Amino acid sequence: MKKLVDENLRFAVDQYKVMMKNTPADVMPRSFDKEKNQLITSNTKWWCSGFYPGTLWMLYGATKDTAIRSEAERRLALQEPMKLYTGNHDLGFMIYCPFGTAYDITKNPAYKEVILTAAETLTKRYRPSIRAIQSWDSSKNFRCPVIIDNMMNLELLEWAAQNGGDKKFHDVAVNHSNTTIKNQFRPDNSSWHVIDYDLATGNVSRKKTHQGYADESAWARGQSWGLYGYVTMYRFTKDPAYLWQANKIAKFLLGHPNLPSDKVPYWDFNAPDIPNARRDVSAGSIMASALLELAQYSKGKEKQEYVNVASTILQALASDAYRSPAGGNGGFILAHSVGHLPGNSEIDVPLSYADYYFVEALLRYKKWYL
Ligand code: GLY
Repeated sequence: MKKLVDENLRFAVDQYKVMMKNTPADVMPRSFDKEKNQLITSNTKWWCSGFYPGTLWMLYGATKDTAIRSEAERRLALQEPMKLYTGNHDLGFMIYCPFGTAYDITKNPAYKEVILTAAETLTKRYRPSIRAIQSWDSSKNFRCPVIIDNMMNLELLEWAAQNGGDKKFHDVAVNHSNTTIKNQFRPDNSSWHVIDYDLATGNVSRKKTHQGYADESAWARGQSWGLYGYVTMYRFTKDPAYLWQANKIAKFLLGHPNLPSDKVPYWDFNAPDIPNARRDVSAGSIMASALLELAQYSKGKEKQEYVNVASTILQALASDAYRSPAGGNGGFILAHSVGHLPGNSEIDVPLSYADYYFVEALLRYKKWYL
């Protein structure tokens, strides 16, 4: 594993140097269109905008490569105005991933201020009647949707609360986590993607999917977000209920008959065309990173199983089956993710968050298990 981790970190730096050259100064890389041989970019309001700077900072932390750092600093400057963005619930991804990583490495107090401001902004989407953060604005499909992905944005709030921010950030994160445990999980510990609430009564209106195969299916990335989210909440709060929830999600995932032997999930655990269904590399890299942290809070056979599954995923992702060819895919590290299959969007493509959690998992492996 040491060889694999080191080689993949070197590969990642080389790829991101290709990406640096390809990416215009005012946008962020999002994916790559192989047929047109063209980088797909986004503006900074897109939920994924923070992953590129976040990955750059992780790679700088690992290698101290100054060209990577210069690009990482340029990208933080572009991203910073998003600390005031109230259009979605994704500020954890958009601000905490890049600025939290940058602060960890530099201890620059300006970065901390950005995180504290973003935490305040995110709480504007908190809805007291449902004791949760509203994920998306209401639309013709949903009135007050809360998606399982939202668990990922609580790290921003918990970190802010523990680093000089208002205690209400912690209260919001805890209420959101508890509401999610109450309403978002099925008896088999898989999660619904979207819970639509009635703000007037505080009741659940409907349990639906948006990106999964069916309302009652287990959309793979959603399961990974839930796992990662509860592991993170346990890290900050040490509340055993969150560890319990994370372990239950892990049991659902690792015991699922449709989890392939290389442990890289199909895009939905109930996709009708399994074993021919697309894999979702992003679901695999998020799951690997989360399992490596969950193993830190586990013992004996369970701990070993979590580390083993994470290393199986990392070995698969590092192979030619999933990794980009050197210099290819516009500089993305990994290929073969699925963004939104029912929306016919981003199917079997590189995605910035698959790369982010792959690099994070490599670094976690190096820090804790080598
Ligand atoms: N949070 C959106 C997604 O996972 O696609």
